[in-house]
Amino acid sequence: MKNFEFYNPVRILFGKGTIAKISKHLPEGVPVLFVYGGGSIKKNGVYDQVVAALQSTEYYEYPGVMPNPVYEQLMPALDLIKEKKIGFILAVGGGSVIDGAKFLAAAACYEGDDPWDLLSKHAEVKAALPIGTVLTLPATGTEMNGNSVISRVSVNHKLAFGSSLVMPKFSVLDPDTTCTLPKNQIANGVIDAFIHVLEQYLTYPSKAEVQDRFAESLLLILTHTGSKVFSDPEPDYDTRANFMWAATNALNTSISMGVTSDWSTHTIGHELTALYGFDHAVSLAIVLPGVMTHLSEKRKDKLLQFGERIWGITSFDHKAAIAETIKYTEQFFRCLGVKTKLSEYGIGSEAIGKVVAQLSSHGATVLGGAGDVTIDDVEAILSTRLVP
Ligand code: NZQ
Ligand code: ZN
Repeated sequence: MKNFEFYNPVRILFGKGTIAKISKHLPEGVPVLFVYGGGSIKKNGVYDQVVAALQSTEYYEYPGVMPNPVYEQLMPALDLIKEKKIGFILAVGGGSVIDGAKFLAAAACYEGDDPWDLLSKHAEVKAALPIGTVLTLPATGTEMNGNSVISRVSVNHKLAFGSSLVMPKFSVLDPDTTCTLPKNQIANGVIDAFIHVLEQYLTYPSKAEVQDRFAESLLLILTHTGSKVFSDPEPDYDTRANFMWAATNALNTSISMGVTSDWSTHTIGHELTALYGFDHAVSLAIVLPGVMTHLSEKRKDKLLQFGERIWGITSFDHKAAIAETIKYTEQFFRCLGVKTKLSEYGIGSEAIGKVVAQLSSHGATVLGGAGDVTIDDVEAILSTRLVP
């Protein structure tokens, strides 16, 4: 196991009725910006619960944060933050709303000319407004980490930044808020969280047993509860609660400590979303089997461990076992209604050059932290996603 330093100060308020606790954790006498998305929270009662919790707080609303949050839509909020002397941002919704709030938190304190530099030039986050979140879509883990992914539509770029300064002060996780999720968003959440675990696990052995076994337990819980939440019209509370907490743990960075992480699937997937508008999880379900196939020899040990411990695959023929492991993984995504080939979305080989050009324009050469995926591998990875 490698040396590591683990820091995660996010307070989690988990369970039924916990939105009401928000007021206890807001700083006193500070105007709050209440940020949310396209209106799902108005249909499922979450908005009313938040408004009730804010009754003694001066607050202003900033609605309309879009899926794959958009720089151009977020920027006008900076004027409101300045004008109303906002001192705290409360994000209520899925990963997009929370990531949008993190960007605003950092952008409001950014002293350079254009806050987009935080993403495009990796400008350092030196200060940020404090934020809190109410999560309504288990998927991204953003409620318990310091990452944010923002799109700039005018240039087709989707980029990430990270800082411990934008980690939420608190996050409310009430599984009842997830009852209104449409099936495709449940599938997205299960797949995104599942692939977050794999990005941190499916690389090279690090003799990190806690991280490995914890990652494997999350994968098993996500397959079990994810399938149930997806297919059962009225999944019970505990199934939804376990799904929600598993998705948070999948990316609160604890399983990445002391091991080699990857993230090349995400890096390539973000370009597919920027170019073709795929939902985030759909882009990952397309790319991951390509990464697994392309690296099947290099990452043989972890692929075999994953296949055996998650899908129960054992064989003396390691090539056959790995092929079966990739097949089962793809089948899991397909059972959740998500297709896994570019060709199934009507996209042909022209996509490969476009993705490579986008990656080059951001200066990307080595993709991911394992050092075994470079920009030269992208063609081979995506080519596997074109065959019928
Ligand atoms: O906008 P509203 O009306 O709220 O509707 C949303 C949106 O249309 C809807 N929704 C959310 N909760 C709901 C609900 N509908 C009914 N009932 C509910 N309870 O779901 C739609 C999708 O929401 P979105 O927030 O976009 O989804 P998700 O949570 O999957 O977030 C995706 C974004 O997070 C980024 C992705 O790249 C993408 O931009 N990620 C962020 C990460 C991070 N910060 O750590 C890591 C991830 O890998 C990911 O990259
Ligand atoms: Zn993701």
